[in-house]
Amino acid sequence: MNTLYPVFINDTKIIPQPNCCFVYSKRQQIFDIFNFESLIFFSEMHGAASTQRIIDNIAANYPAVSLEVIENDLLKLQKFLKERGYLATYLNPFDNSTVFEYTDRMREIKIVQAEIEITKNCNLRCKYCFNESGNGNPELPLNQWIELLDSLYDRGLRIVKISGGEPFLYPSILELLEYAQEKFIVSVNTSGYFIDEEIASKLSAMSIQIVQISLDSKIAKIHDSLRGKGTWEKAVRAIELLHRVNVPIRISTTVTTHNYDEIGDMKSFANEYGAELSLEVLNNVGNARKMESAYFVTTTEKVNQYSSKSTAHKILDELEMTCQSQIGIVGISHKGNIKPCNLTEEFFAAQNADVVVKFEKNWHYANSPVLANANSASDKVISLLKDGTIKSKDKCIFEY
Ligand SMILES: C[S@@+](CC[C@H](N)C(=O)[O-])C[C@H]1O[C@@H](n2cnc3c(N)ncnc32)[C@H](O)[C@@H]1O
Ligand code: SF4
Repeated sequence: MNTLYPVFINDTKIIPQPNCCFVYSKRQQIFDIFNFESLIFFSEMHGAASTQRIIDNIAANYPAVSLEVIENDLLKLQKFLKERGYLATYLNPFDNSTVFEYTDRMREIKIVQAEIEITKNCNLRCKYCFNESGNGNPELPLNQWIELLDSLYDRGLRIVKISGGEPFLYPSILELLEYAQEKFIVSVNTSGYFIDEEIASKLSAMSIQIVQISLDSKIAKIHDSLRGKGTWEKAVRAIELLHRVNVPIRISTTVTTHNYDEIGDMKSFANEYGAELSLEVLNNVGNARKMESAYFVTTTEKVNQYSSKSTAHKILDELEMTCQSQIGIVGISHKGNIKPCNLTEEFFAAQNADVVVKFEKNWHYANSPVLANANSASDKVISLLKDGTIKSKDKCIFEY
């Protein structure tokens, strides 16, 4: 078995970060985040070395680690990579050493994933909206978003989540998605309100990783009491229309005391549409601050049971980190400004490539022996939050 030659499949790309490592496949529209140590294995999977040779090479470089542990870790990693479609194993050497992007700048954090608030405008007024979305907010024209996406792409951005406000209120949303899906792994969050047959069919013609629809209950009254009259019907219709044309769907449920007991039903509902279920516990941010405390759940047992943590959160836990910006995941405001996450206010003004440089400079600690350790970047973010340099809308969802 160890005589096979593992090699990354052509469209797999690896972007090393200072503390972790993104592996993505544009063709399959999937990505995973690995811990930094996985790079030791990845860099050997170029096709010219058999599994046994890789084990021996690593063992020679890490004499303190037993051969058994190395073999075990490598085989586990290979199995996972094969199952996800990133890796193949061949009987003979098969050279492919072109999977690494930005290896020369490995010590700098790349902005790999961004959640973009494409607009702050929204037709709804959900009781809990952390974004406090509304009307009359100026929007960036399409060409400026494209410029920003391009400059981020050149620096490493590969995964884009489009959110808001309501993305489908942005006048050029379909053009923007069309452009973005050519280069990135793209998902879009929506209330579903504006999804009709025509939009569903246009989305199905694109390569969108997932469309996330907010649905808080199987019972219209519960959903509508939080998100507005008639919104349940619109959300369910959107799910049906998208399902009909085979667009991958994620249902996002904001968990309150009003729907806590039906989380299991939501899971079955999602299954009916082949959809993922993402459970987001109500955060006391933005409009939610005006809600009665009775809405906020005190136990999250069922949330943990029915919703698995995102890869980003899993890796943050594993690395004992507290801030997503430290692994290259950032928020981008409706003005095009970069921020550590969407729960913080804008930090770097002006939207252009220069912003990215400023951001990376501030999140680049490789030259500092104090800041180079795993938790320092989040410490830095926390101190910036504390001294008011970065303004948080409320308590940071990580630890601040
Ligand atoms: C801000 S909305 C933007 C996209 C779109 N308008 C929608 O409602 O899906 C993104 C997601 O955040 C969720 N959300 C809003 N405020 C929240 C809060 N205070 N706590 C937890 N989730 C919240 C919404 O339910 C929605 O799934
Ligand atoms: S949660 Fe989404 S739909 Fe509701 S007000 Fe906020 S942006 Fe609009």
